[in-house]
Amino acid sequence: MRYLVLHGPNLNLLGTRRPDVYGDETLADVDELCRLWASELGDTMDSYQSNHEGNLIERIHRARERVDGIVFNPGAFTHTSYALHDALEAVEIPTVEVHISNVLEREPWRRTSRIRPACVHTIYGRGVEGYRWALRHLHHHLESPPTTLPYGSGPDHVGDLRLPAGEGPHPLTVLLHGGFWKHQWTRDTVDGIAADLTARGVATWVPEYRRVGTGGGGSATFADVARAIDHVVELPGHLDLDRLCLVGHSAGGHLALWAAARADAAVTPALVVGLAPVSDLAAASEHGLGDGAVAAFLGAGPHDDLDPRSRLPLGVPQSIVHGAADSSVPVAMSDDYVADAEAAGDEVDYHRLEGVGHLELVNPASPAWAVARRAILDATAAD
Ligand code: DQA
Repeated sequence: MRYLVLHGPNLNLLGTRRPDVYGDETLADVDELCRLWASELGDTMDSYQSNHEGNLIERIHRARERVDGIVFNPGAFTHTSYALHDALEAVEIPTVEVHISNVLEREPWRRTSRIRPACVHTIYGRGVEGYRWALRHLHHHLESPPTTLPYGSGPDHVGDLRLPAGEGPHPLTVLLHGGFWKHQWTRDTVDGIAADLTARGVATWVPEYRRVGTGGGGSATFADVARAIDHVVELPGHLDLDRLCLVGHSAGGHLALWAAARADAAVTPALVVGLAPVSDLAAASEHGLGDGAVAAFLGAGPHDDLDPRSRLPLGVPQSIVHGAADSSVPVAMSDDYVADAEAAGDEVDYHRLEGVGHLELVNPASPAWAVARRAILDATAAD
């Protein structure tokens, strides 16, 4: 695959322009990183920057039939330019809109994007790494295009369904993304592992859910997750729901473990997999994980009824995979959780992986993901 990485006005000043907001990397650094990240995916990229709207429009026109996808940071044109929207719409090249800063938490005028409706996804507030996520998203969407289906009426009430080749019945895995329940982290983070499972015969359903900053937090997030999982009974395709697996990464691991123990669930999962799960809200809160994410998500504690560790036994077979070098969710959380779960009578298959960090678990090319994948394929008897 070949991509165009396009930068709008003032991004030539990266490195010196508001480093507190945009970081220290120069535009040349960003392009170099993008080249590396594209090559990690087996892909290539060209880049272009301009401070002029017309030049950007002409570069988009020229990209037609030459690139498979565009990663576009339109700078301040984001908030004003219908012309750039129309250029993207006209060329019909899948485009991911990227912003380095957290545009939803700055001046109100930065919340509006004229470009967004012409893009397949928008990534913001993840620093320069946002470009990496954008390249990954394009790669996985082009390689394994999902069908995006609603499970409710709000903008976050959607999910991506991928069905494997063949007639079925297919086992189904639901994947819940992480990001400390914060709005800037979305389901694109688990695209790669979803596509990987589907290539190996497992149907995947990756729901979005409301997060802190998009109407979520507290009961709204839990309601969405429950509804999205129960929606599996309505998904198209020949699915075998006796082989349902629930997988969650990080804060999504918390949601998966919570959901697995729901008394009123439409379907009981055969296995729940926690990838570096936030399994203990009290400990997460005490250690201030995710910059006080638990309090932002739920308010002041205790939250025993929402806390997997306080609700043990879950009564569902579990697989926990956690890297010992994880600096976002310490592995000690899984050590303690697994000890308590086993003492309470739950069946837990625990993989504590030396030298592995937080995000390797959602990188389909990593040996760490291969461990989790094996557990899912064994439980669903696919592959
Ligand atoms: C930006 C955000 C825009 O609001 C701003 O005008 C930029 C950069 C970002 O990358 O965060 O120039 O797109």
